[in-house]
Amino acid sequence: KKVVLAYSGGLDTSIILKWLQTEYGCEVVTFTADLGQGEELEPARAKAQMLGIRPENIRIEDLRETFVRDYVFPMFRANAVYEGLYLLGTSIARPLIARRLVEIARETGADAVAHGATGKGNDQVRFELSVAALDPSLRVIAPWRLWDLTSRTKLLEFAEAHQIPVAKDKRGEAPFSVDANLLHTSSEGKVLENPAEPFPDYVLQRVTPPEQAPDSPEMVEITFERGDAVAVNGEALSPATLLARLNELGSRHGIGILDLVENRFVGMKSRGVYETPGGTILLEAHRGIEQITLDAGAGHLKDSLMPRYAELIYNGFWFSPEREMLQALIDRSQEHVTGTVRLKLYKGSVRTVARWSDHSLYSERHVTFEEDAGAYDQTDAQGFITLNALRLRLIAARRARLGGG
Ligand code: ARG
Ligand code: SIN
Repeated sequence: KKVVLAYSGGLDTSIILKWLQTEYGCEVVTFTADLGQGEELEPARAKAQMLGIRPENIRIEDLRETFVRDYVFPMFRANAVYEGLYLLGTSIARPLIARRLVEIARETGADAVAHGATGKGNDQVRFELSVAALDPSLRVIAPWRLWDLTSRTKLLEFAEAHQIPVAKDKRGEAPFSVDANLLHTSSEGKVLENPAEPFPDYVLQRVTPPEQAPDSPEMVEITFERGDAVAVNGEALSPATLLARLNELGSRHGIGILDLVENRFVGMKSRGVYETPGGTILLEAHRGIEQITLDAGAGHLKDSLMPRYAELIYNGFWFSPEREMLQALIDRSQEHVTGTVRLKLYKGSVRTVARWSDHSLYSERHVTFEEDAGAYDQTDAQGFITLNALRLRLIAARRARLGGG
């Protein structure tokens, strides 16, 4: 029996590693992905080795470019936002991790994969729906749903008993439940579990509180090609490098902090603090370039589908026919989403201040309040309004006759 474990090197997955060895007696392959969480991965290797994993069973991969190119960017083409606010930073990383778990299981002849998500959350659903879609023959082991370590306190006791080091945060406390990658950092748990209590500043891990951000604004220009960002301030950058650059800018200017109570797929509400500096800039910029390059009908259709698409990603259905169908539609809409946006970053805000494109549908000649040289005949508007008003007049006449609505 062999199992591939999604291993972060953190406390929970280190305990799981020990538990799989002792309770299950199976050979463990650890898989640790660099998704741009900003942590060294070599300590994860050392820790896995210390916990008795053979070197050839320790897999560490840099997936940053794949993550941004094949997951984050396709999602941003849709301007996907869950429940109006959440940019899906954790949700979009799970299918990629699951895909690699499945591939490594095949390579190593493992018959199971394991993850450290709890039985209360979204992540278990995302991992397991993805694994089911990619290889239904694989078994999934979710220790949080099996063992009797039912609280963080019991977990810490287990760690102590097995000499698993427990990382403390800057304040010498056990850390929040944090998930980080190039797109975002999320924090949940502890003091955040009371949504009536404002979160303390020390929760923030990567974004400067807006009050402490620079007093002068900074301008940035982002260039898009077919819906994807390709350059910052005229410099062509790979997807991951580009997002990292926007993260630097956003973090400095206090951009992308979100305190949200959201609806988990499993039915409960949960409160989290999100930091999405680069993603928040990218979303504003993408909307900025779409403003001039997307047709109204195309734009309104994709906007109306966006909440469905975002919910699919949140709920873990990345590898589903309906997500792929929506993706095809969204990708098709981006054919002319090419051009440049200038944005102003200032104390927590990001605003589009200019946009231009060879693919623009904006016609100054048509819209001008000045002389338009016959581009637009204002008398055409008369009949347009008359026919649109027809049914409203008939309804009003009935109301006058019979009352009611
Ligand atoms: N609530 C967010 C989501 O469902 C973040 C989850 C964070 N996951 C974690 N393992 N800390 O996408
Ligand atoms: C977890 O429960 O493992 C983290 C939170 C979530 O998945 O929603």
